[in-house]
Amino acid sequence: MTDRPEIESLLAEQRTFPPVEDAVHVRGMDAYRAMHREALADPGTFWGRVARELVWTRPFTRVVGRPPPAVTWFEDGETNLCWNALDRHVAAGRGDRTAIVWEGEPGEVVAWSYRRLLEETCRFASVLRSLGVRRGDRVAIYLPMVPEAAAAMLACARIGAVHTVIFGGFSAPAVRGRVEDAEACVVVTADGGWRRGKEVALKPAVDEAVEGLACVRHVLVVRRTGTPVAWTPGRDRWWHEERAHASADVAAESLPAEHPLFILYTSGTTGRPKGILHTTGGYMVGVHATARWVFDLRDGDVHWCTADVGWVTGHSYVVYGPLLAGVTTLMYEGAPTHPEPDRFWSIVARHRVRVFYTAPTAIRAFMRLGDAWPARHDLSSLRLLGSVGEPINPEAWAWYHRTIGRDRCPIVDTWWQTETGMILVSPLPGATPTRPGSATLPLPGIDVAVVDAKGRDVPAGHGGLLVVRKPWPAMMRTLWRDDARHREVYWDRFSTPGAPVYLTGDGAVVDPADGYLRILGRVDDVLNVSGHRLSTMEVESAIVAHPAVAEAACVARPDATTGEAVCAFVTLKQGRLPDEATRGSIRAAVEHAIGRFARPADVRFTDALPKTRSGKIMRRLLRDVAAGREVVGDTSTLEDYSVLARLREEDE
Ligand code: WT7
Repeated sequence: MTDRPEIESLLAEQRTFPPVEDAVHVRGMDAYRAMHREALADPGTFWGRVARELVWTRPFTRVVGRPPPAVTWFEDGETNLCWNALDRHVAAGRGDRTAIVWEGEPGEVVAWSYRRLLEETCRFASVLRSLGVRRGDRVAIYLPMVPEAAAAMLACARIGAVHTVIFGGFSAPAVRGRVEDAEACVVVTADGGWRRGKEVALKPAVDEAVEGLACVRHVLVVRRTGTPVAWTPGRDRWWHEERAHASADVAAESLPAEHPLFILYTSGTTGRPKGILHTTGGYMVGVHATARWVFDLRDGDVHWCTADVGWVTGHSYVVYGPLLAGVTTLMYEGAPTHPEPDRFWSIVARHRVRVFYTAPTAIRAFMRLGDAWPARHDLSSLRLLGSVGEPINPEAWAWYHRTIGRDRCPIVDTWWQTETGMILVSPLPGATPTRPGSATLPLPGIDVAVVDAKGRDVPAGHGGLLVVRKPWPAMMRTLWRDDARHREVYWDRFSTPGAPVYLTGDGAVVDPADGYLRILGRVDDVLNVSGHRLSTMEVESAIVAHPAVAEAACVARPDATTGEAVCAFVTLKQGRLPDEATRGSIRAAVEHAIGRFARPADVRFTDALPKTRSGKIMRRLLRDVAAGREVVGDTSTLEDYSVLARLREEDE
C-alpha cells in the first residue's frame, strides 16, 4: 500500500453531487441556513419547537438549562422515551405498522408490528420489575442482534431503569469491568448468537463475568440458539418462562427530562473505559430530530443501520431514532458476508430497504469482494446511503455511490461520537451538495469550530482540533460517577467562564471555498478499528498480562479495509522467545481480555521501545515505523537512538 493514499486523493477531490429534490424534511440550502441561523441565535425557541413534536407528560418551561459541563435541557419537563417511540404510534392508529424486521444469520425472518413490540417491551418491563429492578437501577444488556435487545432497552426506558448495553463481541473480562463499574443488578443475555455460521456463546461469558459480583442479582436469558447452558438456580431465569406469565400492559413512567437513560462504555486515552451517561429528554429530542433530518425518514421506510446495538450508532439509529419516526427498523444478526459475500445486498433486495447506513470499513471490504455480488441483486428500493464511524476515503465513497446507490442515492457522511449522542455534522439529503470524503456542514444549531493548541480559530485550509461551542440536546451529561474526569477530558482545556468549549478529540480542516468540514480522525492515543474506538491502554494492559511480556506499546497503522489496524510493539521478558507461538498467544490474550475485534493485526517483537528520557513512549515514532514510513520530525528527546534502527530492521 502506498503511504496514506486516501489523504492524497482527498485533497484532490473536487466532484460534487447535488441534493435531491423530493426531500420531505429539509428542502434546499436556504431552508437549512435559516434553521441553522435560528438555532444558533435562539436555541430555546428552536429546540423547544422540535421538542414539542413529541409528547411530554409535564410540559417544560425552560429549554436550555444549566451551562456545560453540568448541562440540563428541558429540565422541569417530564416525558417517557419508550412511550414516544411506541405507544404514541399505537395511539395514533399506526399499531399495525412494522416496527422491527429481523433476520437471523441462519435465515429466519421475524416482523414485529409497533403493537407487538409494545407488548414485548411491557413484558420485559414487567419481568425486570419482578426481578427487583427499580427506577434508576442499572440493567446490563449483553445480547446478539435480536429484537429482544430492542425490547429490553425500551423496557428500561419505560420504567426508568438505566441500560448499559455491552457489545456481544466483548469477552468475559470486558463484560465484568462494565457490569461492575455500572453496578448492574440484572444482566440480560442469551444462550448464544450466530456469527459466520458459528455459535457465539454469551451465557458462559456472563457466568464468568459475574462470578462473585455482589451487585448482580439475576441473569435473564433469552433462548436463541438452543444450546444447553450452565444454570445457577435462583439467579438465572429464562426469558421465555418469565414472559409467559408477565403482563403485556405496563404503564410508562413519567420521568424527569434529566432522568438517566443509559450508560455506554467507550475507550478513553487512559485506563479504564469511560461510562458515557445520557439522559432522557435531550437525548430523545436530539435523536428524533437528527434521524428525520439526516435520513429524511418518511412513512413506509425500511431503515437499515447495520451497527450493533452495543454501539451508540445502534442506540440512536437502530432503535430510538427510527422508532421515534415510526418507520421500520431492520436488524440483522450475523456477519455481512455469510454464507456468501452478497448477504447484505440480498437483505436490501428482499426487505426493500430504503435507507442503508453502514461503516467505511464494511464498504471497503465489499469493494474488494467485487461488483459482481451487489450486481446480482435488485437494489432499486434504496433511496439514501449513509456512512459513519471513521473518515470515508473518496474511492470508497465513489464506489458506494455508483455500485450500491447506482448513482441515484445521496450519501450522508455523518460525523458524531458516543458522547454527542446524535449526529452533529452531516449533509442533509435535500439541501447539501455532497463531496466524497467530506462530512460537509454542521446540523442546525451545532456550533463547530477548528482551533489550534491554544484554542484560537485556525484559518480555513489548516488542520486543527474540532470543538463545539454551544450545547446540544443529546450531549453526554457526565461520565458515570466521575464528574471530575468528564470536566477534565472534555471541557477544561479551552472553556472560559460563559464560553464553554467541548473538545471532540478529533482533528479537522475547514475547506476555504465552502466551509465544508473534513474530519481527520482522532488526535489522541485512541485507535479506530473498523469504526470502533479502542484505547491503546486497554490493548496494552491485555498484552502485558501475558506471562512472556515485559512491555508493550500499541499504535494504529493505516489499513486498507479496517481503516486503522492495531500494531503492537512488544518486548519479552528475559529468556522468552519471540516465536510464532508467543505471537499467537499474545493475540489470543487480547481476544480473551477484550474481544476478537481488538486483536492486533501485527505483533512486532523488539528488545526496547523508543522512550524519552523521562520514560514516555514516543508513539509518534512507533506510528511511523508501523506504517512503514520514514521516521521524521524531532527525535532529540529519544533516549536510545539505536532503538529506532533496530525497530526498522525487525520489519525486514
Ligand atoms: C469517533 C467516535 C458515532 C458513531 C460511531 C463511532 C470517528 C465517527 C466519523 C465520520 C470521520 C468519524 C471520530 C469520532 N468518526 N464518524 N463520519 N468521519 N470520523 O462512535 O466509538 O464514539 O467514535 O469516530 O474519530 O470521534 P465512537
